[in-house]
Amino acid sequence: MAKTKVSYFCQSCGFEAPKWLGKCPSCNQWNTFVEEVIEKGNPAVPDWKPKSTSLQRSNKAVPIGQIQFDEEHRVLTPDKEFNRVLGGGIVAGSLVLIGGEPGIGKSTLMLQLALNLPGQKVLYVSGEESDRQIKMRAERLTAPLPPEGGASFISTSASISPSRGEEAAGCYILTETSTQNIFKQIEQLQPDMVVIDSIQTLHSAHIESTPGSVSQVRECTAELLRFAKESGTPVFLIGHITKDGMIAGPKILEHMVDTVLQFEGDRHHVYRILRAVKNRFGSASELGIYEMLGAGLREVSNPSEILLSQRDEALSGITISATLEGMRPMMIETQALVSTSAYGTPQRSATGFDTRRMNMLLAVLEKRCGFKLGAKDVFLNITGGIRVEDPAIDLGLAAAIISSHEDIPIPFKTCFAGELGLSGEIRAVNRIEQRIAEAEKLGFEQIFISKYNLPTGGDKKRIDLTRYQIAVKTVANIEEVFGLLFG
Ligand code: TYD
Ligand code: MG
Repeated sequence: MAKTKVSYFCQSCGFEAPKWLGKCPSCNQWNTFVEEVIEKGNPAVPDWKPKSTSLQRSNKAVPIGQIQFDEEHRVLTPDKEFNRVLGGGIVAGSLVLIGGEPGIGKSTLMLQLALNLPGQKVLYVSGEESDRQIKMRAERLTAPLPPEGGASFISTSASISPSRGEEAAGCYILTETSTQNIFKQIEQLQPDMVVIDSIQTLHSAHIESTPGSVSQVRECTAELLRFAKESGTPVFLIGHITKDGMIAGPKILEHMVDTVLQFEGDRHHVYRILRAVKNRFGSASELGIYEMLGAGLREVSNPSEILLSQRDEALSGITISATLEGMRPMMIETQALVSTSAYGTPQRSATGFDTRRMNMLLAVLEKRCGFKLGAKDVFLNITGGIRVEDPAIDLGLAAAIISSHEDIPIPFKTCFAGELGLSGEIRAVNRIEQRIAEAEKLGFEQIFISKYNLPTGGDKKRIDLTRYQIAVKTVANIEEVFGLLFG
């Protein structure tokens, strides 16, 4: 019998050590090492075997000018939000990791995609649910929910041909957790796309530790990576997320895959956001918005109109900011509540916004504008359960806080786009024209932006403010904003 070989792995970064360590030398975390049995033997069942032996060929250095370049083959799915997040469709041979909290809708998203890819043979491998459970879910999803404007399916791919195997195109379900058995099925079926739900349930016969452990996750991902690259088949991995929001398993998982997508949102809200965290084939700041309905996920192509609540009267503490997520401008409503603290320590809490950044805004308002916020409870809420990282929301938040503090509503049809600096200055934000245009499109009457967004030198491209119907108010610091707003 082969000797068992054990090794110690850091749960946080995947660092491997021959003996147990209290502190990881790679990521400096304490108490993260766990023992795992690893046995890189030669099991009876075969691994993924490529048809060609191109791997054995050693590569030669070539001048970059001589490298043949052809566009990546991409498959456009009927889901426009998904295409956008991937940077323009699914790239052949790409390995994509989709992370998200339990119950957020990862399986729903991927099954819906698998069911709605005409002309493609999709293999959906589930280690979490039985085939009957999946069928039940598929029944709920049978009527695809096309967005306004209709869906179209275009294949730009040459390497992916729809009729390689014997079986017809469509969605195939496999409930299996052994990678070797999965590869056997793949060889028979010859799918055009593979979905793995989830990577933490898989195990490889090469390694003896339990499914979900660092070495198993790493080995299974490596095997699937090899398969994706050598066969040109796109592979989607669903990954669990730990309590602190990291994708469970080693961080190196994120380094191995081509694209990392995060599916997030508040489980109690209907909106879900698909965010690209890393993308080798496109921008990593793209965002797709979905609505979770009883019959699956529906794309939201006009987010601004949905995120703004319909009100007839102006209320204090509510502002609208023109933010930009990826390439897309979005109007987002924020609400603030400032009230006298009943306890010694004032409470500060923010939903959808970084609490540290909120504290910074409060400090600036206190120090630069003289508002006494130190003994106040402050609550911030970004509506729709969306998380905003765009700093351009600062100005709107500051205005919301003061509006609530003074109990004076912000004038109707007013919006904001500006970053707040530590000395109270309003800093310029990127792509201001796009934000102004979006505000105008949605019927806003005035927008506050930074004075520094207007170019000072005559040589730079000038923003033509006369082009807009909307009144563009340029401000240099926060006092000026409050002067204009509250008099
Ligand atoms: P699921 O895809 O199972 O989440 P994950 O794979 O990320 O754990 O989603 C489960 C949730 O989605 C569950 O709370 C029910 C809800 N849901 C709907 O609201 N509508 C639907 O059509 C489906 C299939 C699920
Ligand atoms: Mg699931």
